Amino acid sequence: MSSTMDKKSISNNELNAEAIASVLTAHGIPDCRVYVYDTVDSTQDIGKALARSNELRSLPKERTLSGPFLITADSQTKGRGRYGRSFYSPHATGIYMSLVISVEKPFSDFLSITTAAAVAVCRVIERHSHRKPGIKWVNDVWFDGKKACGILTEAVTNAENGLCKYVIIGIGMNLSTKDFPKELSDIAFSIDDMDIERNELIGEIASEVLKVSEDPCSDELFYEYKDRSLILGREVWWMEGDKRRTGTAIDINRSGNLVVRTGEDIVKLSSGDVSVRPL
Ligand code: BTN
Repeated sequence: MSSTMDKKSISNNELNAEAIASVLTAHGIPDCRVYVYDTVDSTQDIGKALARSNELRSLPKERTLSGPFLITADSQTKGRGRYGRSFYSPHATGIYMSLVISVEKPFSDFLSITTAAAVAVCRVIERHSHRKPGIKWVNDVWFDGKKACGILTEAVTNAENGLCKYVIIGIGMNLSTKDFPKELSDIAFSIDDMDIERNELIGEIASEVLKVSEDPCSDELFYEYKDRSLILGREVWWMEGDKRRTGTAIDINRSGNLVVRTGEDIVKLSSGDVSVRPL
């Protein structure tokens, strides 16, 4: 484990913008603005507001903030996940971060940024934990059949050309949370063996995500994503309207669809949620 901080800051586990920025700088990213909060509704909302205000402000080019920006907080009161779910974000026992990246990419690249971010997060976890993470399509990071990390990607678009202008990649990870609410206790996991404190972890994750976001559609990332998939070859369940469906996940294609063989046909799922447990 490489450390840019002294023992005091490691042991007190306090979030610190300068410490995070210095990790980013050490990884070759000196221009990322870091904002640290104690408690917020959602780092994702702050990221979106920042992106929008930056976009709408009619500043001369040299005064606009091209980003990236990183927003992180000790806790969230309205942490959110995909499909309007909430993300449990208790005080200082996990990381809750949103990275705002200026992109100018078509929407078709959007899913690749999401899956690339999941690969980036796994790479960092693997450097610091003895356990092996896997990705549950689309972008949850799991250990031992339980979720330890969720990723939510949102976009701010440029109304003139329809391109994504900013993506906001929100990452929530359980590190030492023990008392999950009842409904999560069987399905949530904390990565409690990391040999790294939170400022370094946040800085490393942000650096790795920024690195992969430069070429999220690369072959390397696509095949690594598939290699890390926990779902391929497994039976999965999903709802199609009111109908419960099941089949074997046989592939993830270049568009990010999960290809499933059912008793009757081959189905390509483009979004939505699949379960590895019977519904
Ligand atoms: C999911 O599980 O569906 C995605 C969860 C994403 C949670 C993170 S925590 C930081 C950022 N702020 C939020 O409100 N959500 C994301």
